[in-house]
Amino acid sequence: MARNKIALIGSGMIGGTLAHLAGLKELGDIVLFDIAEGTPQGKALDIAQSGPVEGFDARLSGANDYSAIEGADVCIVTAGVPRKPGMSRDDLLGINLKVMEAVGAGIKQYAPNAFVICITNPLDAMVWALQKFSGLPKTHVVGMAGVLDSARFRHFLATEFDVSVEDVTAFVLGGHGDTMVPLVRYSTVAGIPLPDLVKMGWTSQEKLDAIVQRTRDGGAEIVGLLKTGSAYYAPAASAIEMAESFLKDKKRVLPAAAALTGQYGLDDLYVGVPVVIGAGGVERVVEITLDGEEKAQFEKSVGSVKGLMDACRGIAPSLA
Ligand code: APR
Repeated sequence: MARNKIALIGSGMIGGTLAHLAGLKELGDIVLFDIAEGTPQGKALDIAQSGPVEGFDARLSGANDYSAIEGADVCIVTAGVPRKPGMSRDDLLGINLKVMEAVGAGIKQYAPNAFVICITNPLDAMVWALQKFSGLPKTHVVGMAGVLDSARFRHFLATEFDVSVEDVTAFVLGGHGDTMVPLVRYSTVAGIPLPDLVKMGWTSQEKLDAIVQRTRDGGAEIVGLLKTGSAYYAPAASAIEMAESFLKDKKRVLPAAAALTGQYGLDDLYVGVPVVIGAGGVERVVEITLDGEEKAQFEKSVGSVKGLMDACRGIAPSLA
């Protein structure tokens, strides 16, 4: 059986990390694509040369022409610009929307059967636009945010409780921005919900509230520290988890920015919800019951995603 082909569109900090992880996990042969000449070729060669040391078999190549992604099974999109200190993800909209238009056309021409994972920010609006520009089925275009936001929440919780990250599950819903909704009630340590752990004296409500806020600001905290760009190790690991679930038909239940077609009373919109990812792409959107406060927070988050979509329509009338 031929190896899978993974196309990485954008070969910057996240793109390079994606290529390294995909190689280490032997997910398939990897094509790095970028408009910057030499960058994808150089990273491909460098990572390929780590193969003999790490003991993985994967062909890596770099390209500046979309024809190189032909027939890809998975495309992971990071093309665009990242944040600098003081910027919100929304400040990237104008530049990155134009990038999505070019990327969508490239995927449409050369990889129309791929499962596409978008990472470029502002995520929910960019993945929505990418689906429209590419014309691929909604089941096959998804945005990576929830796995990352949940991972940040899990990391902070595991540190607070001094337990393994493996035993902490967390759910974060809504848009990938300041209005994201970390769902405390659905987050657990070995199945014990967080509100019960507060009652058990493992932490206080104040500390839990602070962790929720730190999760919301998780991306900005790293931008503030790095100063020259945004996070890349955890975003890359999160997208690889989604790609692996598709390629191996694992049917993982993961939070992701998915196209809603009536679920949660919403239509023609991408926002973070739990989904099942398998060989059929996004095979199912899981509709969980939200209580009053959670619903209000989710609606607020949806409102801000809709605002970004309107801004996109203003720039690119073909999205209307
Ligand atoms: N087509 C292809 N690649 C492009 C294009 C384009 N039209 N425009 C820019 N790029 C490339 C750049 O040349 C660069 O190599 O995208 C790459 C982006 O890499 P970085 O600047 O290192 O950014 P990164 O940290 O990887 O983040 C990428 O993901 O998390 C989001 O907010 C982040 O939108 C940003 C994206």
